[in-house]
Amino acid sequence: MSCCKEQRGVTVWFTGLPCSGKSAVADVVAERLRASGLRVERLDGDIIRQDLTRDLGFSKADRDENIRRVTFVSKLLTRNGVAVLTSFISPYREMRDRARAEVGDFMEVYVKCPLEVCMKRDVKGMYQKALRGEIKEFTGVSDPYEEPERPELVLETDKETLEESVGRVLDRARELGYV
Ligand code: ADX
Repeated sequence: MSCCKEQRGVTVWFTGLPCSGKSAVADVVAERLRASGLRVERLDGDIIRQDLTRDLGFSKADRDENIRRVTFVSKLLTRNGVAVLTSFISPYREMRDRARAEVGDFMEVYVKCPLEVCMKRDVKGMYQKALRGEIKEFTGVSDPYEEPERPELVLETDKETLEESVGRVLDRARELGYV
């Protein structure tokens, strides 16, 4: 006897530079999936870092540990039939590939946006601080970002509207049989 509505779990992993639009797209995708009756969880860097990974900073070792813990949570949720939408810079390819291998049902979305555009958006003024040297190891300024090589989807948030990006994520997830 099954307890829950049938739903295949998946982790949709959004990766990209700060201010590339990861959270904005993931938030709306989450709303849409919830509205269609699915179980959804959002794991967002800024929020997770206030709790589950509040002890971590931004060295490579700390970023790897951040992604390792988030991968673990994503795996548990995914195998219980939840649609998990993560938004982390997750700058290192090796850790994203590890997440893919651990989680299994996994869709990597590269939220691609030129650095100049991300800097112009600078939602929290962090690029300015990083350029002034007030924040160290800031991704895109003084820390690396390794682009995905074979993501399931690439969004170009400087060329598409938010609505278009959201639609493309939902279409791709349907195409892959996840939703
Ligand atoms: S990750 O590299 O470990 O994946 P994560 O996505 O969790 O990063 O956190 C990124 C958020 O932390 C950014 O949205 C930004 O608000 C904040 N932040 C603070 N310091 C840094 C930094 N040095 N580099 C990148 N983001 C930073």
